[in-house]
Amino acid sequence: MSIHEVRHPLVKHKLGLLRQQSLSTRSFRQLTAEIGSLLTYEATGDLELEDYQVETWMGPAAAQRIKGKKVTVVPILRAGIGMLDGVLELIPSAKVSVVGVYRDEQTLEPVAYFEKLAHDIDERLALVIDPMLATGGSLVACIDMLKKAGCQQIRALVLVAAPEGIEKVQALHPDVDIYTASVDQGLNSDGYIVPGLGDAGDKIFGTR
Ligand code: PRP
Ligand code: URA
Repeated sequence: MSIHEVRHPLVKHKLGLLRQQSLSTRSFRQLTAEIGSLLTYEATGDLELEDYQVETWMGPAAAQRIKGKKVTVVPILRAGIGMLDGVLELIPSAKVSVVGVYRDEQTLEPVAYFEKLAHDIDERLALVIDPMLATGGSLVACIDMLKKAGCQQIRALVLVAAPEGIEKVQALHPDVDIYTASVDQGLNSDGYIVPGLGDAGDKIFGTR
């Protein structure tokens, strides 16, 4: 497994805006979705293509399309929903498999509470989306659920990742690649990412 920190200028620019303390809910949502799109672009750069013929105004012409079963996007409730529109903008026909996991605020342990997956998830590439990878507990719990359902190819897209969370996912699921806009410094004593984004779910849903 590897960690891919996306260094594209648009990603870094938008992440800087997203970190601003005084940002409206609307702007936070918009930037979250936009970075979600850009991470999707990076995370799908190696999808296999096949040749086919398309009928054009000039007659038949060679074209290419993505081969085989495609993608299921897996938002982790609730904050992952904030990235969903951005991902679907690039992959509009993707099935959405929803997973609910929250982390207990005292223990920081993940609590899985919901699962509704694409029926053919065993044939699809799963793109797990969640703005924050902190201790890694939530992402590991989600990956456990996907693998139990037969999913064989999983990538994770997170806006910000802490080294502690990356290490945990690497140790338990070495086959899962992580795409992120930033590897941040680490976790504070409350398990929040520094500098991070604060509570991403609250900011996306306007509940802070
Ligand atoms: C946040 C975030 C991740 C998780 C990361 O969700 O969206 O899912 O915490 O932390 P971890 O890596 O230490 O598990 P939260 O539990 O706050 O729930 P929410 O999405 O409902 O806000
Ligand atoms: N969840 C968040 O929303 N932010 C963090 O920094 C860690 C977990």
